[in-house]
Amino acid sequence: MAELSFPIINMEKLNGEERSSTMEIIHDACQNWGFFELINHGISHELMDKVETLTKQHYKKCMEERFNELVAKKTLEGVENEIIDMDWESTFFLHHLPQSNMSELPDLEDDYKTSMKEFVVELEKLAEQLLDLLCENLGLEKGYMKKAFCGSKGPTFGTKVGNYPPCPRPELVKGLRAHTDAGGIILLFQDDQVSGLQLLKDDQWIDVPPMKHSIVINLGDQLEVITNGKYKSIMHRVLTQTEGTRMSIASFYNPGSDAVIYPAPELLEKEEVDESQIYPKFVFADYMEHYMGVKFQAKEPRFEAMKAMESVPVSATVPIAFA
Ligand SMILES: [Fe+2]
Repeated sequence: MAELSFPIINMEKLNGEERSSTMEIIHDACQNWGFFELINHGISHELMDKVETLTKQHYKKCMEERFNELVAKKTLEGVENEIIDMDWESTFFLHHLPQSNMSELPDLEDDYKTSMKEFVVELEKLAEQLLDLLCENLGLEKGYMKKAFCGSKGPTFGTKVGNYPPCPRPELVKGLRAHTDAGGIILLFQDDQVSGLQLLKDDQWIDVPPMKHSIVINLGDQLEVITNGKYKSIMHRVLTQTEGTRMSIASFYNPGSDAVIYPAPELLEKEEVDESQIYPKFVFADYMEHYMGVKFQAKEPRFEAMKAMESVPVSATVPIAFA
């Protein structure tokens, strides 16, 4: 079988003669991969190195022992078949928008908080820049996606800081079970030494190559809905490894909880989409409430469930959500 080449976007080329071919690679990646990897994205390598060092230090100091005591020692005892109800990961969450929770996290040291804040401001800018590139490729007006994500309080932006520790029996447990992401656009700063992230393409699991100072991008279910399936969220998973701890800093630029998500009318008109092929319209918080229970299942039944809810009044009573 021919080797598939994972899409890598050199963002510097967006400023020069190769702009249109680079835009085409982005469009193809959004349609056929749901994933791409950015290089020369403008975020300082020095800042990324600092975030990496501090994240790894924080894991060693505050998380590793807890993981070994609570998970590593007990989980695999006497197990013969693959464990399908847990993930071999150690994580914590940072919320940035609409409100930061950084000051409420007692075990984060000040320089870690400062570097993280600086980093996520850059990521937020990058996310909005990417959404506009997607709009351009789709023929939607600049700012359409951001507006679609806004709701009454603006988009939700948060980071899952994860570490995937070594596992003595990788065949028995995944670092993270296969799923598509529920939200908008996801920006991942992953370890450049320890691999493990894979995406599903044409029924094959393909490695997302670790690359120093790159940012991996993937699209969530909401972009699939807004583009009415033109762009896709893609199943991905993390394998466990016997050696090394894999760092994964995933930032989720998502709709606000009360944002109403629906296919862009302009795209439906342009493509003359048949009524039965139109994706659902819903309040994002309702989608998240449903997603939490079925995250590790196929996305299609989720879209169908939302479609079925269209006829009943929606309520936005669920807490702020991101995943
Ligand atoms: Fe994910």
